[in-house]
Amino acid sequence: MPSLINGNFKGKDIISLDQFTPSDLKILFSQTDKMKKIAMNAKPSKILNGNIITLLFYEPSSRTFGSFSAAIKQLGGQTVEIINPQQFSSVAKGETFEDTIRVFEAYCDAIVLRHPQEGSAKAASDAAFFVPIISAGDGIGEHPTQALLDLYTIHEKFKRLNNLTLLFTGDILYGRTVHSLLRGLSLFENNTVYLLSPKELKLSRGDYEKFSKKLKIVEIDNESQIPKGDVWYWTRVQKERFSNLSKYNKVKTKFTLTPELVKKYAGKNTILMHPLPRVGEIDPRVDSDPRALYLRNQTRNGMYVRMALIGLVLGKL
Ligand code: CP
Repeated sequence: MPSLINGNFKGKDIISLDQFTPSDLKILFSQTDKMKKIAMNAKPSKILNGNIITLLFYEPSSRTFGSFSAAIKQLGGQTVEIINPQQFSSVAKGETFEDTIRVFEAYCDAIVLRHPQEGSAKAASDAAFFVPIISAGDGIGEHPTQALLDLYTIHEKFKRLNNLTLLFTGDILYGRTVHSLLRGLSLFENNTVYLLSPKELKLSRGDYEKFSKKLKIVEIDNESQIPKGDVWYWTRVQKERFSNLSKYNKVKTKFTLTPELVKKYAGKNTILMHPLPRVGEIDPRVDSDPRALYLRNQTRNGMYVRMALIGLVLGKL
């Protein structure tokens, strides 16, 4: 278990939402509000002057990579950007994961790591001697910074993170964004989460037992059971998690968000979220619905939250 934040982010690895309490989120969100102003005013900031952060991405990324890179530059910091180290670093020559972490930490103040292996962020934090590791997603494990920006986006809309009804749809079994967000929602009282997925992608029974201790979880199997709810959180069925392509093809767009579905079941204040990328599970006609936040606040908040998180972890805020 990585260290709890406990009101002090400085030097901490960010690996799991289990490290956070509601008051840690309050600190992060308050700093995020300030970061948003810095970014929106386009005023040069010197908060991370002199800091270098390595972005080490073993898996493809648009949002997490782009927003971390932009977040650091918004605050006057610099980046070492290693995309696909399997091909473009000495990993290709056989350098171990642990040595790779120890080499890059010698050049920077923190490492942001994305890796296809569950547990890799923890392994990196065990390997690192000096600098904090911020997970940008570890396989089917967790995606903590995505959950932080999702929680900020939900809080921005409803001014609370308790007494909410949410619907999660798509890949609940392998979806790391879902795993982190369930942990985050478990920190608050009286949240109800409906889970709609193909039967092959239901939450593991172990996770079901664990999350049921704090959340009311309702598993449903067809669209007619969808609640109006406060939040609909759609996710992609992830081709990269399947070894058998025909199994993937069978389930990939079983549940699609369409204007017809929204009209029939959503409430007037239901917000529509998706961590993105989408690959057919949201009809683009939904994009113009003002309740659809996935290409608006949710994406933009990613940069603001990551500005705040990096600033706090480096002890600059
Ligand atoms: N939401 C998310 O993690 O997107 P990327 O894979 O593009 O970073």
